[in-house]
Amino acid sequence: MSGEAEHLRAYVEYFRDLGVHDFYRRGEPVVEASAVEQVSAPVAEALPVTAHPVPEKVAVPSSAEHVVAVPVRPAPTPISSSRSEFLEPPNLKLVSFNNLAPLPEKRMVAADRPAALRAIQEEIGDCTRCPLAYAGRHKIVFADGDPSARLMFVGEGPGADEDAQGLPFVGKAGQLLNNMIGAMGLKREQVYIANIVKCRPPGNRTPEPVEATTCSQFLLKQIDVVQPEFIVALGSTAATYLLGVKQSLAGLRGRWHSCRGAKLAVTYHPAFLLRDPRQKAEAWKDLQMVMKEMGLKVPSKG
Ligand code: URA
Repeated sequence: MSGEAEHLRAYVEYFRDLGVHDFYRRGEPVVEASAVEQVSAPVAEALPVTAHPVPEKVAVPSSAEHVVAVPVRPAPTPISSSRSEFLEPPNLKLVSFNNLAPLPEKRMVAADRPAALRAIQEEIGDCTRCPLAYAGRHKIVFADGDPSARLMFVGEGPGADEDAQGLPFVGKAGQLLNNMIGAMGLKREQVYIANIVKCRPPGNRTPEPVEATTCSQFLLKQIDVVQPEFIVALGSTAATYLLGVKQSLAGLRGRWHSCRGAKLAVTYHPAFLLRDPRQKAEAWKDLQMVMKEMGLKVPSKG
């Protein structure tokens, strides 16, 4: 099945699970496979085009024996005329994490954080809140690292390795992230790593807005439990949803933003750096900005 078809099927299954079975506006019965008749090509050609459209991509040979499938009634009008309108309802507004919920009144003591994070994980359960649950997910990737970390990294969503292991950033991009953390003079176990979405988008595509906004509530709770002093948004998906703005990375890098009481910096996603290693120097500048603010030793030039 093609990626697009797989994607569509995940959405159909998602809506079915919600009890939506009829995707058509006018109450007309959906054409079932059994309602497709096999008729001979000359008959198909003779049918009025509007009542019985022959699918455009089906080449109808002239041979009288050859059969072609035609729907018995005209295709009903879909609810939404464009895919993006369907996946991005107009009321799905981008809201920064700061504006999604009030900040917690007080800091949770370190000793309570592991249990609080476990409670969030239990709340997520075997999640079916968004279509990614039906798109071939194996494991829900909650997070990894120190529940009291000063620094949190937020990526986009799990890839194949993360989906198999249930841990974020364990594939090739994860190795590079580990190196980046190491270059900052830290260990992976000292930071907290999470993603905008906790389930793998099929084919590693960018999460759809409905998926990201559905999942955000849990990342927000994780941030409020860990209460890092610093957050690094890895790539534009993380920056977009954490900050609630759709801007180029160039416009967001090199300065401080705020997120849930933390100072947030934006840098390139490690997967992007693997594709374009020339940008590593730029990413290093971003990390040095973070190190300086954290009071970590920034290596002198030379
Ligand atoms: N890319 C991400 O954004 N997150 C992961 O966990 C792995 C790859």
